[in-house]
Amino acid sequence: MDLTTRYLGLDLRTPIVASASPLNGHVDSALQVEAAGAAAIVMPSLFEEEIVHEEVELTRALEAGSEHFAEALDYFPDVDDAYMTTTDRYLATLESLAARCEVPVIASLNATSPGGWTWHASLLERAGAAALELNLYHLAADPTLDATAMEHRDLQIVEAVRTAVSIPVAVKLSPHYSAMANFAARVVDAGADGLVLFNRFYQPDLDLESLEVVNRVELSHPGEMRLPLRWMAILRPQLGPDVSLALTTGVHSGTDVVKALMSGADVAMLTSALLRNGASHLRTVESQLVAWLEDHEYESTDQLRGSATTATSGDAAAFERTNYVQVLHSWAAPHHLTPSSPSS
Ligand SMILES: Cc1cc2nc3c(=O)[nH]c(=O)nc-3n(C[C@H](O)[C@H](O)[C@H](O)COP(=O)(O)O)c2cc1C
Repeated sequence: MDLTTRYLGLDLRTPIVASASPLNGHVDSALQVEAAGAAAIVMPSLFEEEIVHEEVELTRALEAGSEHFAEALDYFPDVDDAYMTTTDRYLATLESLAARCEVPVIASLNATSPGGWTWHASLLERAGAAALELNLYHLAADPTLDATAMEHRDLQIVEAVRTAVSIPVAVKLSPHYSAMANFAARVVDAGADGLVLFNRFYQPDLDLESLEVVNRVELSHPGEMRLPLRWMAILRPQLGPDVSLALTTGVHSGTDVVKALMSGADVAMLTSALLRNGASHLRTVESQLVAWLEDHEYESTDQLRGSATTATSGDAAAFERTNYVQVLHSWAAPHHLTPSSPSS
């Protein structure tokens, strides 16, 4: 079975990629992810806000005087560690993974402002990243910023990073842009070689006993794949075959990978399923993919790719709003909810 895939100009053994997660941020666990069959590894993001916070803290410590510095060294028995910033540690892990992995290692950058990111992007390129994933993760919670201003800021980040590096750049999008198809096309115009659909927002909950906000990451379930699946099917024909597309969120099994490819994705990415079942789950996913392809008499993933987009499925309406009413009407009420006939 030919599973080979091209994503961001990289030749991959299969379309199954380990998306950004803590598993890929440590050399040992990332090597296990590779050994279990990931065709590429995306490192967790280097976060702009973390770096900015660290710079502020460092300046404060330097200004506070040498006794604070000596105190700080007590926390770091290994003196070298005291000098390592988040960026240093990230670059060291990336360098090590790039040297030891046979599969491409993609670095991820979480940028919130255009300034300064060009510098970090080029550091990641120099440390051996095969490609860069730009993670645009923010909430439109500022009432003074309209959609145009927010989109403009994101596009500036993409443009700035694109000019800073020569490796391929993918942009991981939020699903909450108000004009998704238009914005996706403009991200590509701004220089992105690919899009990753979608970032998964973590929703805070309320603890009714402590009356505190609970901010805990919950892993995805397969039903969450419907959102990126729909947009993949819509965007693939619009963006054409030259734009790389990755589907992330809700991919848990080999048949989920089949759906991602049919809707037009080049690769399907997994995190939750690996955090829940361990890196070895990648082997299961790959064998499920191969079994499905064999059962349905495919010889390669290429034959399958894009066979169910809005342009190819013969049922474009199913992905778009036009069948909204039919879908609502298709709900079959359970017997106990069916209105009883008027009693005589
Ligand atoms: C614990 C955890 C950490 C994550 N860290 C990152 C990150 O640093 N950067 C990023 O772009 N996505 C990050 N993600 C998002 C995943 O890469 C992925 O897009 C998301 O979990 C949806 O895929 P899934 O349904 O396979 O989990 C993280 C997800 C989890 C669960």
